[in-house]
Amino acid sequence: MATSTGKLRYTTPGIPTEDAERVVELLQGRLHATNDLHLTLKHVHWNVVGPHFIAVHEMIDPQVDEVRAFSDSLAERIATLGGSPQGTPGVLVAERTWEEYSIGRATTQEHLGALDLVYQGVITSYRDAIKELEELDVVSQDMLIGQTDKLELFHWFVRAHLEDKSGALSTAGAGSEQEAASAAAE
Ligand SMILES: [Fe+2]
Repeated sequence: MATSTGKLRYTTPGIPTEDAERVVELLQGRLHATNDLHLTLKHVHWNVVGPHFIAVHEMIDPQVDEVRAFSDSLAERIATLGGSPQGTPGVLVAERTWEEYSIGRATTQEHLGALDLVYQGVITSYRDAIKELEELDVVSQDMLIGQTDKLELFHWFVRAHLEDKSGALSTAGAGSEQEAASAAAE
């Protein structure tokens, strides 16, 4: 199976090759995250049930489209830097550092509770990559900052369904998707 790491034969001007190799690794991590996320969001779009079905079903699709576009930008940045973007399901599953989304057919609140956890994980790992890119490549960093802005907006769309009038989140303190789904359903 192909993997995402490897020596670069060339890279974009002005970046030391070793730095570019690390940048490609960081971008590949984001590519896996966004490929996983847009597939997971479609799964949610198909599996939500309950009285708020149509609102949530239709809220999710623009997020799918945007996150798919993030994947395309990340992959093309990897190629621009002389790397080979890995976009097949097998490599994604082999290299990802998180578990498969765990909720099947469930109510809109349960899925939104679980998605709160999903977005927390994705956004936290984006911010880690942004910090590391500060020294390595500010052009790639700029791409990730722009994507994080959108991911945080989508996270708010999700959280607005989980928030009460005082501003408290029903999922506060949940440590797993199952816990968050149960807390959101109450
Ligand atoms: Fe659809």
